[in-house]
Amino acid sequence: MRVLVTGGTGFIGSHTVVELIEAGHQVVIVDNLVNSKRSVLDRVARISGTAPEFHEADIRDETALDRIVGGGGFEAVVHFAGLKAVGESVRRPLDYWEVNVGGSTTLFRVLDRNDVRTVVFSSSATVYGDPDEVPVTEATPIKPATNPYGGTKQVIEQILTDLHASDPRWNVALLRYFNPVGAHASGLIGEDPNDIPNNLMPIVAQVAAGKLPEVNVYGNDYPTRDGSGVRDYIHVVDLAEGHLAALDRLAVDSGRHVWNLGTGNGTTVLEVIAAFSAATGRDIPYRPAARRPGDVAETWADVTKAERELGWRAGRTVDEMCADTWRWQQYALTLDG
Ligand code: NAD
Ligand code: WQD
Repeated sequence: MRVLVTGGTGFIGSHTVVELIEAGHQVVIVDNLVNSKRSVLDRVARISGTAPEFHEADIRDETALDRIVGGGGFEAVVHFAGLKAVGESVRRPLDYWEVNVGGSTTLFRVLDRNDVRTVVFSSSATVYGDPDEVPVTEATPIKPATNPYGGTKQVIEQILTDLHASDPRWNVALLRYFNPVGAHASGLIGEDPNDIPNNLMPIVAQVAAGKLPEVNVYGNDYPTRDGSGVRDYIHVVDLAEGHLAALDRLAVDSGRHVWNLGTGNGTTVLEVIAAFSAATGRDIPYRPAARRPGDVAETWADVTKAERELGWRAGRTVDEMCADTWRWQQYALTLDG
C-alpha cells in the first residue's frame, strides 16, 4: 500500500513508519516539525533500510496538502499530526482547536477531493474521561472532556463518524491509545520532546539520567494497591503494530471502527519507578506530591475487541518498556550534546 502518514516524524508516527516500511508499504510523511526533528528520517532509514518520502508541511495548509495528495496514489492515511500536551491545551485552547480540529478538517477535505477515504486516526483514552468502571471497553460512555486537548479528540472522532455516515466510502479506524511509552529496540528513535516532558516515563528517564532531580509522585492516597495512580502503559512498537493490524482489517472490513489499544494491564506510578530502577540499575529519587488536577485514579483498557478483530496483542512488558526507553535516552543525550 501507498500510505500517507501525517505527524510521521513524531514519537508514535516514526515507530509506525518503521513498521510500515518493514511490512513492505510505501510511506510518505507530512510533518511541520513543530515537535520532531528531521534527523528522525535518517534514523528510520538506518533501522528499516529505506528513507521515507518526506514533506515539511502543515496540515492546515490546504494548498500544500493538495499538491502532496493529488495524484499521490494513496490507499490510506494514518493521521497522527497534532498538538498533544494536556496542560498546554488549557493555556492555549485556540491553538489546539485550530491545529487539531482545523488541521483535520482541512486534511479530510483534501482527501475527499482526491478520493482517499481510508483513515486511521490517533484518538486517546482521554475521551473516556474519568470512567465509572475499569477496564474500559469501547462501549464505555464518552464523558465531557476535562481539557481542550481531550475535546479536540472527541470532536475529530465525531467528524470522522459523520463523514462515514454521509458517505460509506469513508473507511475509518478510531484508535484509542492508552499510555504509549518505550522506544524502538535499536535505541535510535523514541520520544524526543522539544520541551520539558509532561508524562511519567520520560520524566522518570530524565531523573535516572540525572537531568531532573526527582520524580514527583502525584497522589499517594488513591484507592489503588499502593496509593499511586494506575495506567495502562503500552510499548510504542506494539502500538505501531496495532496500526498495521487496523489497516489490514479496514481492507477486508470497511466501515467505522473503534479499537482500544492498550495491554489490558494496569501499573502504578511506584511500580513504574521500581521497574525503571531495576532495568537501569540506577537509583531513582522520588517524593510524594499533591494529586495533579484532572488526573483519574486508575484506568486501563479492555482489549478484547482489538484482540479479536485485529488479531493483534500488545505483548511487550513494562520491563521492556523501561529498558528500551533507557537505551533511547542514552542515545538521545548524545544527539543533544
Ligand atoms: P508527537 O508530538 O511526537 O507527534 C506529533 C507530530 O505531529 C509531531 O512530529 C509534530 O511535529 C507534528 N505536527 C504537529 N502539528 C502539526 C501540523 N499543524 N502540521 C503537521 N504536523 C504537525 O506526538 P505523539 O506522541 O507521537 O502523538 C501522535 C498522535 O497520537 C497525536 O495525535 C496525539 O494526540 C495522539 N496520542 C498520543 C498519546 C501519547 O501519550 N503520546 C496518547 C494518545 C493519543
Ligand atoms: C501517568 C501517571 C500521573 C508525571 C496523558 C494524557 C492522555 C494521553 C497520555 C494523549 C499518572 C503520574 C505523572 C509525574 C506522576 N495523551 N505522574 N508524576 O495523565 O495518564 O495521560 O498522556 O492522548 O491524554 O492525559 O499520563 O504520563 O502524564 O501520567 O506521578 O511527574 O503518572 O499522575 O498517574 P496520563 P502521564
